[in-house]
Amino acid sequence: MLKRIVYSVSGAAIVGLGLFIIYAWQPAIDPVTSSTINSYSPEVIAQGKTLAAAGYCSTCHTPPGGIAYAGNYEMHTEFGTIYSSNITPDVETGIGNWSEEAFMRAMRTGVSRDGHHLLPAFPYEHFNKMTDDDITAIYAYIMTSVPAINQVKKDNGIPFPLNISMLQAGWKLLFADTDSFQPNSAKSAEWNRGAYLAEGIAHCGACHTPRNALGGEQYSKMYQGAPIDGWIAPSLTSTSTSPIPWRSQDFYEYLTTGNSPYHGSAAGPMAPVMHKGLSALPDSDMQAISGYFGDLARTNDTDEPDTNTTLQAAIAAQHTQPNHQVDEGARLYATACQACHYSSDQLVKGRPLLTIGSATHLDDPTNLINVILDGVRADQGISGIVMPGFRGALSDEDISAIAAYLRQSAGENTWPKLQQKVGEIRNQPRFEH
Ligand code: HEC
Ligand code: HEC
Ligand code: HEC
Repeated sequence: MLKRIVYSVSGAAIVGLGLFIIYAWQPAIDPVTSSTINSYSPEVIAQGKTLAAAGYCSTCHTPPGGIAYAGNYEMHTEFGTIYSSNITPDVETGIGNWSEEAFMRAMRTGVSRDGHHLLPAFPYEHFNKMTDDDITAIYAYIMTSVPAINQVKKDNGIPFPLNISMLQAGWKLLFADTDSFQPNSAKSAEWNRGAYLAEGIAHCGACHTPRNALGGEQYSKMYQGAPIDGWIAPSLTSTSTSPIPWRSQDFYEYLTTGNSPYHGSAAGPMAPVMHKGLSALPDSDMQAISGYFGDLARTNDTDEPDTNTTLQAAIAAQHTQPNHQVDEGARLYATACQACHYSSDQLVKGRPLLTIGSATHLDDPTNLINVILDGVRADQGISGIVMPGFRGALSDEDISAIAAYLRQSAGENTWPKLQQKVGEIRNQPRFEH
């Protein structure tokens, strides 16, 4: 009897494993020669160029100072270091002998031409939301317009057994979102266009959606904020901790100029998203994305929000003259920061009001500490405008005193273990963005 149960249980396991292997096993797709690659119209190629920019393909496929699209950009994950692939049309080391079918399969299901499963650091779960025509356009652009570069991909530093391709297949089965884009018929065409771009090519959720312990996006908490590359990508929904709610026009201003006076600037990993990615999209697409997020933040009215009271209180808080002899943070803030961060009686673009900004109101001090340490470069935030970094000028103690002072003037509780956190972030390896 017992034996029979064991047999049937192991039988079921074998059948299950067999089915899994059938699912997981992907054939290689035959290589093609460049002469068999279709000729595409200039319009399709131009469309592919725009989409490749909006998908930040070159940000992830080009190391700092390296050759565009030739790969080996380093991604640091809690599972190990991952190197991106060479996606130039080089036949030997790039995707020069990939057919459109092989490219389509990779973009939709994360399977390489030779059949091996790719890591989800390549956001195929989002690219899968795109139409066939849009994926074809990106293929057309890369194959016809990106110079072929011979450069071998470095091996990923993912330890055994996480590096087993079959495990990648299991991960997909458990976590990957393989559904195609589902339009919401209750919403306008513009809203759906915004959702299509955000969920697909622009993959906002890859950074802004929290992940589970195995790195899968938690779709029930879509866009509710998550840590990424030593930064916090804040919540873009009604769960935002910002004292002034995000409206469509605030998203639009932030995403097209790099700064919202009510919230803050696009620094860290958000800087290339805005400057190199979204800036390639036509204005109608930026309106659509902004309208979509304005709706998710549920504050999509065009009226001025009831910001006046909040705003006046924040400006007043910035102007109160604390006892500089007693409060070290206030004294340091007045000398190191206030010369630039002034707003007399109204908000001045480029002079962020720190008592209202997201960095001060997030539950985690990481973004504020990052900005104080390393500043905001001319190609981040508002174009051409710089905030100096204070890494060499202020100690951990100074920075935590300023942060604690700002937090207090913004009416929030002090962050726990602040000075320790400043020390940790200071010594963390820096990623170039
Ligand atoms: C967030 C970073 C990131 C972005 C953005 C990104 N990729 Fe990748 N991509 C990767 C990584 C990492 C790999 C390698 C994964 C692995 O080693 O398993 C990869 C692999 C690929 C591959 C498979 C190549 C091969 O030889 O198997 C293709 C094709 C590809 N990417 C195309 C694109 C295109 C097109 C875009 C833009 C629309 C893009 N990627 C955007 C990180 C990214
Ligand atoms: C590569 C990761 C990444 C991607 C992709 C990304 N973001 Fe961000 N985003 C961040 C980080 C990190 C911050 C914080 C930047 C800072 O404070 O300087 C941020 C900040 C923001 C903010 C400001 C939030 C606040 O409260 O201050 C908005 C709005 C935003 N992102 C919208 C978007 C949208 C819309 C998309 C997709 C079109 C997107 N992001 C894609 C990482 C990302
Ligand atoms: C020389 C002028 C200058 C000084 C000094 C300065 N800042 Fe800034 N800061 C700026 C500018 C300009 C921006 C907006 C940058 C942009 O958008 O390109 C900014 C942005 C910020 C932001 C918003 C970043 C984000 O990601 O939303 C914070 C927070 C900040 N500064 C904190 C400080 C603190 C704290 C000090 C003092 C230790 C300080 N700044 C000193 C000019 C300055």
